[in-house]
Amino acid sequence: VYLQDSDIMAIDRKNSEGDVALATGSLYASIWDEFEKEEWERFADGLFRRWSPLPVDEGFFDGKRCLDAGCGSGRAVRSILQSGAARVCAIDAGEGCIRNTVERNREYADRLETTVASVLHIPYPTGCFDVAHCDGVLHHTTRPRTGFSELVRVLKPGGTLIVGVLGRGGFLNAAISFARVFRHLIPKPFTARLCRWLIRDRMLWYAVIDAMYVPVRHTYSKAAILQWFSDAGMTNVVRVPMKWGPYALGRWMSGEGYLKYMATKPKSARTEGTL
Ligand SMILES: C[S@@+](CC[C@H](N)C(=O)[O-])C[C@H]1O[C@@H](n2cnc3c(N)ncnc32)[C@H](O)[C@@H]1O
Repeated sequence: VYLQDSDIMAIDRKNSEGDVALATGSLYASIWDEFEKEEWERFADGLFRRWSPLPVDEGFFDGKRCLDAGCGSGRAVRSILQSGAARVCAIDAGEGCIRNTVERNREYADRLETTVASVLHIPYPTGCFDVAHCDGVLHHTTRPRTGFSELVRVLKPGGTLIVGVLGRGGFLNAAISFARVFRHLIPKPFTARLCRWLIRDRMLWYAVIDAMYVPVRHTYSKAAILQWFSDAGMTNVVRVPMKWGPYALGRWMSGEGYLKYMATKPKSARTEGTL
């Protein structure tokens, strides 16, 4: 099921969980569909190599069973599979996102499993993944903390959680909040055409459409996110720094920055997670 641009524009945080997830999945699918193969590969390979390299040793993913929740176009799926994971299970609320993930990762099909599903109801048993990765997703959902708890739930004790959400404050967030006042008024196809004309770089084009039209866009303080990890009993919490892009430009630009953290679920953890 795909929503049209006019329906996507009509949905915001006041709508139901299902409608928000459907509209968000449809919006992102329409974005990923625009990426040519080479552009997408540059976008995908930039993730761990350029923008936010994970503070892990080489071989970290070797033989591991991993979840990518809110896989989008499948860029982290590609990076994790290239890094040696035994299996990646990718879920996303958008059918078109899953189609992109499958088509763009054909060469790794034997190690990839995909499902259209919400991070708020992860369709996997408790304690079954070595790594759960969820980047840029929870702040677009109606119940981010439930999503966080679901990620903790499906992790094995001793497993690694990697979560990235938008930090609050800074010029960028202020400009985006201002632009979003008009998201119900300026048709998405108009903005998309204007951006295609004005902006050569697909990454920037993506950032504008995403920021302006995504139905829900929460931002957080660092303290609030660290509290999520603490409440869930996670240990070894380390920040994954952003090395490139607007989030690397300092507080005036991006406030608290992009809040991406990596942590371990304690071996002694109750497997059902918290919350
Ligand atoms: C900003 S994109 C990030 C995609 C990907 N993680 C990446 O880093 O390229 C957000 C993704 O989350 C997905 N998403 C939003 N709400 C979701 C939900 N409730 N459950 C699963 N996926 C969701 C969207 O469809 C979209 O593909």
